[in-house]
Amino acid sequence: MSIPTTSTGVSSSNDGDQQEPFLVVDGLTVRFPTHDGLVQAVTDLSYSVRRGETLGIVGESGSGKSVSSMAVLGLHNPRQTRLNGSITVGGVEVVGASQHTLRSIRGNDVAMIFQDPLTALHPFYSIGSQIAEAYRVHHDVSKKQARERAIEMLARVGIPQPSRRVDDYPHQFSGGMRQRAMIAMALVNDPKLLIADEPTTALDVTVQAQILDLLQDLQREYNSAIVMITHDLGVIAEIADEVLVMYGGRAVEKGSTSEVLTHPEMPYTWGLLSSVPDVTADTTTRLLPIPGTPPSLLSPPPGCAFEPRCIHATAVPGDLCATTLPLLAPGRSAHHLKRCHLPDPDAIYEQFVIPEVAPEAGETR
Ligand SMILES: Nc1ncnc2c1ncn2[C@@H]1O[C@H](COP(=O)(O)OP(=O)(O)OP(=O)(O)O)[C@@H](O)[C@H]1O
Ligand code: SF4
Ligand SMILES: [Mg+2]
Repeated sequence: MSIPTTSTGVSSSNDGDQQEPFLVVDGLTVRFPTHDGLVQAVTDLSYSVRRGETLGIVGESGSGKSVSSMAVLGLHNPRQTRLNGSITVGGVEVVGASQHTLRSIRGNDVAMIFQDPLTALHPFYSIGSQIAEAYRVHHDVSKKQARERAIEMLARVGIPQPSRRVDDYPHQFSGGMRQRAMIAMALVNDPKLLIADEPTTALDVTVQAQILDLLQDLQREYNSAIVMITHDLGVIAEIADEVLVMYGGRAVEKGSTSEVLTHPEMPYTWGLLSSVPDVTADTTTRLLPIPGTPPSLLSPPPGCAFEPRCIHATAVPGDLCATTLPLLAPGRSAHHLKRCHLPDPDAIYEQFVIPEVAPEAGETR
């Protein structure tokens, strides 16, 4: 039986080296030629993740989170995609790699939890046989042992009565259970790098907490690098060491999670933080959706992509925001990068944003 699996191996040159990042994305640009023109889905994106670290990627729908992550596993159809830049996984280059190299990269060491569970689960095979098969590809074990491992993984992701449900087919699982089964399949080989694309979106908060605990256990046990893509800043706050904010296919802010969440330095991040509920906040905290729509990826604006929606552009001299793309440059510290022309973002954040979103917090500060 040959079943597509999410888990995959790379014979890596630096897989045990704590100094070298396990995943390095450098100047990644992903474009799709279409009838309407060239869709500039991701432009000049750079980040790196070490073993044992978690990078959170956040941004609105369509900001390029999934497209950039799928490029890490070489999952884009080369005939329909223009890919530039460099991606190395365990020291092995992915961009422009042969199918043979890509197959070795998609091996035992790298796994992806896809945003859509149906992308990864085959409808014709039972859930258990798919997880067992993913395990057997990389371990010399009997079918019985692999089935035991599948049951163990289903239990770990919170599937009730796993020894009975292991023989169910994907259509017999609810959407949330399918998502958990896919997570079980991705984790079955204890990957060194896990890319999790909105892994907990369809799950209730209790199961979401279980899954986040499971990912943290995996990280502790196997020193895994994790890239966590999510809309949920609560998830970022809980498990990410670093956070990357994307807008219109570009990185617009990047830094340690504590820095970015407590001292965000550009208006789009301010908008993201103001538009999510904070369960720990007092009742004076207001939720403010970001007005307007994301930029066209077919003809991106020449200046800052957020300019048409940015209420702080007036604080920047002249028409710089509309005409000139800001560089991703150091802000408060060398490791906190932001793409914005504002000369003193901290002052605006303290003076205008905090009082608007959380008046009492502003008074305290
Ligand atoms: N094969 C393709 N051809 C053309 N455009 C594409 C293709 N794949 C993705 N896109 C476009 O690239 C952009 C980025 O898509 P992506 O799926 O990365 O967004 P996302 O940030 O993951 O959003 P979401 O939060 O909704 O999952 C979108 O505008 C999408 O329509
Ligand atoms: S560069 Fe200008 S338009 Fe863009 S986020 Fe900063 S202030 Fe707003
Ligand atoms: Mg996505």
